[in-house]
Order: sequence, then C-alpha cells, then structure tokens
Amino acid sequence: MENGKRAQWGSNFGFIMAAAGSAVGLGNLWKFPYLAGKNGGGVFVLIYLLIVLFIGFTIMLGEMAIGRSTQLSSYNAYRKINKKWSYVGAIGVIAGFIILSFYSVVGGWVLNYLYQTVIGGIPTDTSAYFGSFISDPISPIFWDMVFMIATAIIVFKGIGGGIEKACKFMMPALFVILVIISIRAMTLPGAGAGIAFYLTPDFSKLTAGTIVAALGQVFFSLSLGMGCIITYGSYLGKEENLEKNSIIVPFLDTLVALLAGFAILPAVFAFGFEPGSGPGLMFITLPQVFDKMPLGWIFGTLFFILVLFAALTSSISLLEVTVAYMQDHHKWGRTKAVIVLSLLMFLISIPASLSMGILSNVQILGNNLFDFLVLISDILLPLGGLLMCIFIGYVWGMDKALAEITNNGKFPFKLKGFWTIMIKYIAPLAVIVVFLNALGILKL
Ligand code: TRP
Repeated sequence: MENGKRAQWGSNFGFIMAAAGSAVGLGNLWKFPYLAGKNGGGVFVLIYLLIVLFIGFTIMLGEMAIGRSTQLSSYNAYRKINKKWSYVGAIGVIAGFIILSFYSVVGGWVLNYLYQTVIGGIPTDTSAYFGSFISDPISPIFWDMVFMIATAIIVFKGIGGGIEKACKFMMPALFVILVIISIRAMTLPGAGAGIAFYLTPDFSKLTAGTIVAALGQVFFSLSLGMGCIITYGSYLGKEENLEKNSIIVPFLDTLVALLAGFAILPAVFAFGFEPGSGPGLMFITLPQVFDKMPLGWIFGTLFFILVLFAALTSSISLLEVTVAYMQDHHKWGRTKAVIVLSLLMFLISIPASLSMGILSNVQILGNNLFDFLVLISDILLPLGGLLMCIFIGYVWGMDKALAEITNNGKFPFKLKGFWTIMIKYIAPLAVIVVFLNALGILKL
C-alpha cells in the first residue's frame, strides 16, 4: 500500500520481468545443472519439462488468480476468501522466511566469488578454497550481510520504483550474458559429449528419486507453493491476461534453466570434470573451467554477475512476500517491515552459514541447520501447492477462479478444460503420490 492505494506494476512487461526474476534464480543456475548432472542428464531434463508443463503452469495460474482476485498478499488473500484457509497463507510466509535465510547465504557466496574472480583471488585448488571459505566464521557472513542489504534496499523502494525497475534492468542483462556464455561453452573443443549427456535421456537412469527431485525443483524454480506469485499477482491490474502470463513466466524460467545447463555442462565435459559433482559444480568446478578457458577471467566475471542478478531478483521476491504480509495484515509501513524482516532473516541466516563450519556438529534429523532449512522448504512448497489446488478446486470454487482468469468472460481461456482437470484432480494427486513416495510410504 503506497499512499493508501495498493501499488501496481507499471506495465504487464514489468510484471513479467518481476515474476520471471523471482523464478529465475540460484535454482536455475546453481541447482538445475547439478541436479541434471547427478540424476542422469537428459532423463532429468525430460521429466522436469513434463512437470513444468502439467503442474508448474497449473499452479502458477492458480496463484496469479488468487492474488489478482483478492488484491492481497498470500495470508490475507486466503483469509479473504475463506478464513479457515488462512493457515495456508501463513505456511507461505514462514516458508519465505526459511528460504531467504539459506538463500542469502548462497547469495553471499556468489558475491564473494564475483569479487574474488575480479581480483584474481581464487586459488587453483578450488575445492580446498570452497571448503575453507564456506566454513569460515566471518567472511561468508559478511557477504551474506551485503547480499541482504542489497535485497532490502530494492524492496524498500517499493513495487514500481524498486522491484519492477530492478528486474527490468537485471533480467534482460542476465539473459544476454547467459546466451554469450552458452555459446562460448558449446563451441569449446570437446563440448559435444556434454551436450549429448544433457540431451539424451537414458531411461535406465530413471528412478523414483529422479521424479521426486524434479518435482521439488519445479516448485522451487518457479517460486511456487508459498504465495510468492499470489503476492506479485496482487499488484496486477484486471486488464492483464493471466493465462498468457502464466505460460510466459514458466517458459522464461525453463529457458534459463536449460540455457544454464548449456552454459555449464559442455564446459565441464570439455575440461574433463565430473558432471555429477553436486552442489560444488558452480563453486568448485566452474572456477577451474574458467581458469582453463581462453579469456576465462572475463567469462568468469560475467558469469558471476549473471548469477548475482538472478539471485537478487529472487531474494527480493522472498522478502516482498513477508513485507506485504506485514503491510496487509499488521498495517506496518514498508520501511519498518523491510528493516525488521530483513534483519531477522539475516540473523537466522548466521547460524545457517555457521553450520558449514563451527556449528557443523549441530544436527537436526541428521542434517546441519542449512540442509535442514532446505529440507523444510522442500516439504512446505509442494504442500502449499497441494493445498492451493484443493482450495481453488473445492473451496473457492472453479466458477470464481475461472471468472477471475477470464475477467468475467472478457478474455478467452483456451486451456480452460486442461487447467480445470489439472487443478482439481491431476496436480493434487501427483503431488500426493510423490510425497508419499518421498516419505517411503508408497514405493514407486
Ligand atoms: N525461484 C527462485 C530460484 O529458482 C527462488 C525463489 C524465489 C523461490 N522466490 C521463491 C522459491 C518462492 C520458492 C518460493 O532460485
């Protein structure tokens, strides 16, 4: 609420850049390539694409409809439609807290890597360097703080002048850099093996674990299941076409994830590294790749700028969810909400960062704090998505949802039949099956 009236995006393009900015993040550039590398390359990519098409699109459109209909951020949006369901919005606000607390730690790593690449400070033994950097009690927390401050400043400036403006600059820049780096990677001698690994589905590698990993990744990568898109959708005018927007945003997000694979995996193969090296792929393997590449210093710097932009346009969306909740529900001003919440998130992120070092022996259910926070978000997001489907299909009602999407019949809704079946039956069922399987109750 700015000047008593709810803020709105300056244009539909601005909304798309902001929503795609939220979606495109560390999930695309850091997680997607290493998950693909670990889960059999092409098979993972194929399963991922199918889940985006069927479930990602469905939930994205559902969230946009709830947000725009109520003109309220997640908690109050659910509450306005049916008071009993406000807890689903509450889960989202909590998830926002949890995710940003570990996200800002990795955002801080990215800042450090950008800085070190520029000054030429990454030693040849990148593995030892990564290990000693993340377990350090001071340096990662310093960068984490810088990252949170940058996030807070953008969110403080509001919807149009802060988030939209930042995303309208950072997203196109990110895209251009990514295309340049992909071309560079794919034209390296020996890149073909990486491209083949990435594009050829080897179905012998298909396991239940692949599907669980892909589903979790779709939720995380598309920013679904915690009211982020509800919140962004609440700043959207009635004259915008929700169906179109919820195709464009997942399309852009998936395009960037695929391109990230093309930017990273061929280079990894070309220089003889392991694609399945896990979370270290970006921080351990890539710096070595840049080191060996002609003009690698420039490509490395460009690469970490790209990752930083992606991370920032996502972290602002996470902070905005909690800020909007404080504004809508507790009538806090933006300034107070931004300062209090970002400080609180930074404070939670300190033990998350320290859990890589001095607090590594503090274990919760066999995880250090960082991994525990990730685990909680991996559960909360699909849960939030499942509840949202049930909410739309059976509580809010399809008539009202469809009226919102078509703006009372003013827009055609080509995928109406598909969306209805998906949201009422298939998407919730799919999430339940994957859940039960992950919990070991049902064996796929
Ligand atoms: N989608 C972002 C990424 O891929 C992370 C993110 C931002 C997110 N907002 C979210 C994840 C909301 C889940 C929910 O990095």
